[in-house]
Parts: sequence; C-alpha cells; structure tokens
Amino acid sequence: MPEVFSTIEAMRQWAACVRRQGERLALVPTMGALHQGHLALVAEARRRASRVVVSIFVNPLQFGPAEDLSRYPRTLADDLDKLQQFGVEGVFHPTVKEMYPDGPQPTRVIVPAMSAVLCGRTRPTHFEGVATVVTKLLHIVSPDLAVFGEKDWQQLAIIRRMVADLSFPVEILGVPIVRDEGGLALSSRNRYLAADEVEQAHSLYRSLVYARRLYEAGERHKWRLLDAATQILEQAGLSPEYVELVHPESLKSSPDILDGPAVLALAVYVGRARLIDNIKLGNTSALSAYTALNEGG
Ligand code: PAF
Repeated sequence: MPEVFSTIEAMRQWAACVRRQGERLALVPTMGALHQGHLALVAEARRRASRVVVSIFVNPLQFGPAEDLSRYPRTLADDLDKLQQFGVEGVFHPTVKEMYPDGPQPTRVIVPAMSAVLCGRTRPTHFEGVATVVTKLLHIVSPDLAVFGEKDWQQLAIIRRMVADLSFPVEILGVPIVRDEGGLALSSRNRYLAADEVEQAHSLYRSLVYARRLYEAGERHKWRLLDAATQILEQAGLSPEYVELVHPESLKSSPDILDGPAVLALAVYVGRARLIDNIKLGNTSALSAYTALNEGG
C-alpha cells in the first residue's frame, strides 16, 4: 500500500527525502473517487518520474454554497487499492483542519480574467479555490512535475498561467481525456447519472465531434460551429449552460471567423450531474512550447 501522509509536515519530510536521493518526483492532485481518468494521470506521472505522490483532498474552497461538497464521493480504501496497483509510493490525504486550520483562510490565489469565463460565470469562486489549493499542494510537495487532466481544460489553463506568472519551479503536464465506450468523459460526477441519463450524456461528445468534423471540412464561422454543437445537445433533450469556442491558453473568446487554434468547451446538466467536456480544434502544438516555459525547475 502507498504510505499515507495526513499532515503537511510528514508529507514535506518524505518529499524532501526523495529529492535528497536525486529522484524525480511527480504529484497528481485529485479529490479522490478515482477512476480510469485519474489512473491515466498516475500512469503518465509514473512514466515521467521515479516517485509519484497522489493527493486526495476534497477541497471545500472550490465548492459553492449550493454545490455537492457534502455528497461528493469519498472512497479512500478503494482509491488506495487502485493506487497500489500503479506502484504509487505516497498519498497525501490531509483533513480540512490540516489544510485550513483557521477556517476559510483570507489568502487566495486568483487568476481573475481566466476564472470569470466559461464555468466561472456560474461558479464564481471555484477557480480561486482550485488555484489556492493547488498552490498549497505544490508548496507542500515541491514536485518536479504535476499532472492534470485535460477534461478540466479551464482549470489546466489557469494552473499553467499561475505557475508561469508566479515562477513556480514545476512542470505542468496535461493528459488527454479518457472516455467510456460511448465517448462520455470519465468523471467522479458520472456516478450521479441514472442509466437513461448516461445515454443522454453521450451526446456531449457527439456534439463536440460533429463540430470538429465541420471544422475539419473547412468551416471557420464560430457561430455555425457553436450552433451545430448546441443542436446535437438539444436533440438529446439537453439545454447547455454554455457551448463556447476559446483560445486554448488565454481562454479569450475566439473571433467570429476562427484564425488559429481553439478549444470548443461546454457545460451541461444531465439530471443532477453538471458535466463538462471539450475538444481541440486546429493545431494546438504551440501549447507544448508554452508548457516548456514552465519546465526546468
Ligand atoms: O481536478 C480536481 O480534482 C481538483 O480541482 C484539484 C486539481 C485536485 C484541486 O482540488
């Protein structure tokens, strides 16, 4: 079984020891309820580092007052079993009191413009909660590499920006989305879906793929691409919270006629589960150059 650290001090000491031994350390931040999507992050971390720490912490700072903090799945024993199979050495599993001893702390890390768009419109404090806890995790573990899923594209873009702007000595790696056989992006929240809702949820990926096909056939009008994706969702009986095309790094809204790479992102409630998904359009290889800016710590 991986060694479980519940205090910041114990986690720090173990990570410092790993670094003294000259090992390359990767961190995979999670909120637990691990599925194949998380395990893909762990596998990538394993390939790129000699030691891997997974953090499991359901971070109250990133949940709004009406969100699912209390019912968010907590499955530690099962998570540890899965991580053992991937040879993970350390798990950081602090209590809320350990992370925020004085209650909701006044210090926040905010990447304002990027946090206000897309999901930020309906979850106005979510990304400051994410940026703040990721900052703490990076300071506690001091990994060489931290691995995040591309499903939360906005989160990944914000973390990359934060790490570049604040000169964190860490490489940030994004790992492609893992999907079920019908294309549904794996998420801990999928367990809220009833069987008929899973079928409806498959329309998310269908809508993204349909828009990408149009793009690949030469369509560059933003609104035509957005309408096409929206229609597929509506045909499945869903009314999306948003379907948007944005620049992959800045998250600025794409121009009316697309002239460079973009990410088509959407959020939609299926039953009581709020699902997000995205797909890249165009050549996003420039992203790796951006990532390289953050490497080498
Ligand atoms: O993506 C998640 O699971 C969370 O937002 C993260 C990055 C672990 C921060 O709590």
